[in-house]
Amino acid sequence: MTSSAPLFLVKDGAQSWPEIAPMRARIYPPEKLVHTPMHGIEWSAAQRRVLLYVDDKVVAVAGIHERKISCDGAILRVAGIGGVMTDPDHQGQGYGKQVMLHVMQLLRTEAKCAFALLFCEDHNVGFYSKLGWSLFEGDMVVEQHGKTGPFVFRNVMVLPLAEQATRTADIDLCGLPW
Ligand SMILES: CC(C)(COP(=O)(O)OP(=O)(O)OC[C@H]1O[C@@H](n2cnc3c(N)ncnc32)[C@H](O)[C@@H]1OP(=O)(O)O)[C@@H](O)C(=O)NCCC(=O)NCCS
Repeated sequence: MTSSAPLFLVKDGAQSWPEIAPMRARIYPPEKLVHTPMHGIEWSAAQRRVLLYVDDKVVAVAGIHERKISCDGAILRVAGIGGVMTDPDHQGQGYGKQVMLHVMQLLRTEAKCAFALLFCEDHNVGFYSKLGWSLFEGDMVVEQHGKTGPFVFRNVMVLPLAEQATRTADIDLCGLPW
C-alpha cells in the first residue's frame, strides 16, 4: 500500500499531549525510566508541537518552547525544542529529520527568537549536528525542584535564528529545561 504524503500540523502543547502520550510511553516506558539518569528530572511542558502525520497516524513530533532567558546578563527571547520523537515503528525513514526541518523553518519564519536551544543525550548529537545544530560549551543553570543550579545531565545544542547562536556564554534558562 502506498503511504499518503506527510502532513504537518502545529497544535497547542496541552491539547496535543493525549495524542503523543502513547508514543512517549513506548519510547520511555516508566518502569525503565526509573533506572535512567532521566528519572526525577522536571521538564517544562511544550507550548506548541509540530506533529507529522502519515496515513492519519502521528509518526513524529517535536515540542516548541519560547522563553526569555539571561545570556551573559542580557535578556533574550530564545526558542527551545524538546520532546523530539519518531514512533519506534517508523524510525530511520527520515521522519525525525522532516519534523525538525519543519520546526526550524517555522521558527526562522516567525523570527521572534534570537536562537534555539535543545538538550540531548550523547547518542543523538550526530542527528542534530546533521541538521546544523552546534554543541554549546558555555555554562548553563536551570530550575529543578524549585532551585536554580547547573544542568549537567545532557548535551546542550544551539542553532542560529534571528541572531548568531552563542556557544560560550553564561546562560540562566530562567526556568525548567525542555
Ligand atoms: C532521534 C530520533 C528522533 C531520530 O528520528 P528518526 O526518524 O529515526 O531519524 P531520521 O530517519 O529522520 O534520520 C535523519 C538522519 O539522521 C541520522 N540519524 C538518525 N538518528 C541518529 C542518531 N541517533 N545519531 C546520528 N545520526 C542519526 C539518520 O541516519 C539520517 O541521516 P541522513 O539524513 O544522512 O540519511 C528517533 O531515533 C527517536 O525518536 N529516538 C528516541 C527518542 C529520542 O531519543 N529523541 C531525541 C530526544 S533529544
